[in-house]
Amino acid sequence: MADILKRDGHVLAEAASVDEALVLMDSAVPDLVLCDWRMPERDGGELLKEVEDRGLDCSVIVMTAYGSIAHAVEAVRLGAADYLAKPFEREALRLAVQRVLKTRSLEVENRRLRSQGSQAEGYGELIGKAPSMQLLYRTMQKVAATDATVLIAGESGTGKELVARSLHSGSNRAAGPFVALNCAAIPETLIESELFGHERGAFTGAHRRREGRFSEAEGGTLFLDEIASMPLPLQSSLLRVLQERRFTRLGGTGEISSDVRVVAASNRDLPQMVADGLFREDLYYRLNVVGLEIPPLRSRREDVPLLAETLLERSARAHGIKIGSLPVEILRRFMEYHWPGNVRELANAVERLVLLAEDGALQAGDLPPEVARSTVGSAVPFRLPAEGLDWESMEGDLLRQALKRCDGNRAAAARLLGLAYKAFLYRLEKYGLASDDSDIGTEGPDMGNITRG
Ligand SMILES: Nc1ncnc2c1ncn2[C@@H]1O[C@H](COP(=O)(O)OP(=O)(O)O)[C@@H](O)[C@H]1O
Ligand SMILES: [Mg+2]
Repeated sequence: MADILKRDGHVLAEAASVDEALVLMDSAVPDLVLCDWRMPERDGGELLKEVEDRGLDCSVIVMTAYGSIAHAVEAVRLGAADYLAKPFEREALRLAVQRVLKTRSLEVENRRLRSQGSQAEGYGELIGKAPSMQLLYRTMQKVAATDATVLIAGESGTGKELVARSLHSGSNRAAGPFVALNCAAIPETLIESELFGHERGAFTGAHRRREGRFSEAEGGTLFLDEIASMPLPLQSSLLRVLQERRFTRLGGTGEISSDVRVVAASNRDLPQMVADGLFREDLYYRLNVVGLEIPPLRSRREDVPLLAETLLERSARAHGIKIGSLPVEILRRFMEYHWPGNVRELANAVERLVLLAEDGALQAGDLPPEVARSTVGSAVPFRLPAEGLDWESMEGDLLRQALKRCDGNRAAAARLLGLAYKAFLYRLEKYGLASDDSDIGTEGPDMGNITRG
């Protein structure tokens, strides 16, 4: 094993017993310890306890013999990062080592980010330290104080509205109103009156005079989201306000002067729309005096841990739920997922974990299926021992272990085994594990469908 790992570029020290290992670890704490479970003097469990007692910052992989799943379970309970069932192939060894080391580097990165607490990790409400975000913050800082029109480009969920708000609160208009209008959310025919307002009787149904968003935003910032949805004729009206700082209410005669800073956003390719004649070129340049581009989350994965942690804290606080730290397993999946819905999707995933948490513990089983699917499974692939096995007793044993580990919580135990709740209950019945429980039927939604007997 040492040869294999050395060839892979790892630096290794070998020890023949737990005590010898502890002496070695006194001088240099390794990232990873690989140890046997059964050893002549003190066993793997004792090594794990020593590591814990001495507060050593290292991960441990325990090697257990086949047919001793109980030892593996015990090892994991005592803090082992993983276990290998003997005999294993060199590829299984490599994989386990890689996985544990990768998890460690995530943890270390996580701690580093947390310890940098006071250093700027974002801008306004924006979170993110990636170089592409730093560039964004620098530009924002430069233009926030000006009245320059800003066009924000970015995929859905990247934080375009947040950028607009941050620009507003960083400007000398901060005391004024911030008004947002999503051009895609209102019918085309209503956008004009929504923007500029209308006089009473301006059109059928206009029973009262109405101030438009431009009036509401007077002295502040008007955020026009999804500007690409604005119909061409209205694009001309908007261009006129931007150039002349004056507008007319629908059905009105007088011109109203306007002191509004416009920030627009689009998740569509505006230059392409200009080329296709769908967006006015002059308006595009007028809006794009300063262009800000927010990178998609998948291009700045290094921000995922910080975002996840912060969103977790926020969500827990918002729901008044006390939540433990983010399990590394979940973080790893977060890191590997491609986040088509960007930060919004991440925020939703985190919120879901918070709401479904069991006693404050976030469960990987509560991840949205597409996020959960995004990675190769974490368990060492189970291999059928050469001598075969007793299926029924193994299955029954796993059910009992899952129940025990989850303190009898069946929903959690089902998740732990990757089983649908009904399928899990069916198996409990089969192995006679369901009958002695008096609170049956109070936990799951589908108990009524189970025939007992
Ligand atoms: N960099 C970020 N830091 C913190 N929260 C963010 C960030 N980017 C987006 N969000 C959050 O994600 C959600 C979507 O952001 P939003 O500004 O509405 O995106 P967009 O307008 O680009 O679709 C909001 O809840 C927002 O607070
Ligand atoms: Mg938006």
